[in-house]
Amino acid sequence: MRKKVLVATEKPFDKKAVAGIKEIVEGAGLEFALLEKYTEKALLLEAVSDAEAIIIRSDIVDKEVLAAAKKLEIVVRAGAGFDNIDLAGATEHKVVAMNTPGQNSNAVAELVLGMMVYMARNGFNGKSGVELLGKKLGIQAYGNVGRNVARIAKGFGMEVYAFDPYVKDEIIQADGIKAVDKLEDLYKTCDYVTLHIPATAETKNSINKSLLSLMPKNATLINTARKEVVNEAELMEIFAEREDFKYIADVAPDCKDEIAAKFPGRFLFTPKKMGAQTVEANINAGLAAANQIVDFFKTGNKRFQVNK
Ligand code: 3PG
Repeated sequence: MRKKVLVATEKPFDKKAVAGIKEIVEGAGLEFALLEKYTEKALLLEAVSDAEAIIIRSDIVDKEVLAAAKKLEIVVRAGAGFDNIDLAGATEHKVVAMNTPGQNSNAVAELVLGMMVYMARNGFNGKSGVELLGKKLGIQAYGNVGRNVARIAKGFGMEVYAFDPYVKDEIIQADGIKAVDKLEDLYKTCDYVTLHIPATAETKNSINKSLLSLMPKNATLINTARKEVVNEAELMEIFAEREDFKYIADVAPDCKDEIAAKFPGRFLFTPKKMGAQTVEANINAGLAAANQIVDFFKTGNKRFQVNK
């Protein structure tokens, strides 16, 4: 019997990416199945029941999904962050979990600068805004997205700083970026700070009042990472204490309604996570996921495994 590869995406890929995934899967002699825009978890549980492989995006693969996916051998998160997969559960079920690092990072980086321009120009409301030229941008974590943000921000003529304890200063400096050794210094120095950290036990709620209060006047925080990394109670305190503070996020925090009611004009939130939602990123990440699955079934290649 042919193994089944299920694409299970509540937020669908562009149809060109779906067609490309199907071609790769069927070209390798595997069966292709698609579950898009599902509205209930029950539909996902049913769809995974006979799949040997699943391609997901931000879709939640928890214990219940893993238990329902009795034949599952591999789950690939078409994207960077894999906080939506229960990694220990996957290991327990002998399921290989992978991501596709770097495949959608330019799309996220372009959104960062796009939202910054929109905010700096007051949402194009006719009033004078400010320019990004000469402003200081701090990048928290110099991974695939951070590097793309740095490249584009340099084109805007921004002064770019980066903090990443896992990346050597020389690597950051080789890109013409100022390496900052203390996180506090990034916040003290930069007019804009953009977050590119994963959501882990260590990073959740880590962007707090003591960091944000260090930022200079007219500061803007940009979060295209995960809403969970920002301490929302302390974010609200900063909003209340600092009339000059602005927050841009993809996707909106849980306290979005309170921010909207109390602090109009000082926030920009996407209604749905849009960072990786481009045709190019969908194709890059989707096809990479399909190729990784085919390679795993054919050769056992586990290069991008994240639940080791
Ligand atoms: C990622 O981790 O790759 C991004 O957050 C994109 O998520 P998405 O596939 O749900 O758009």
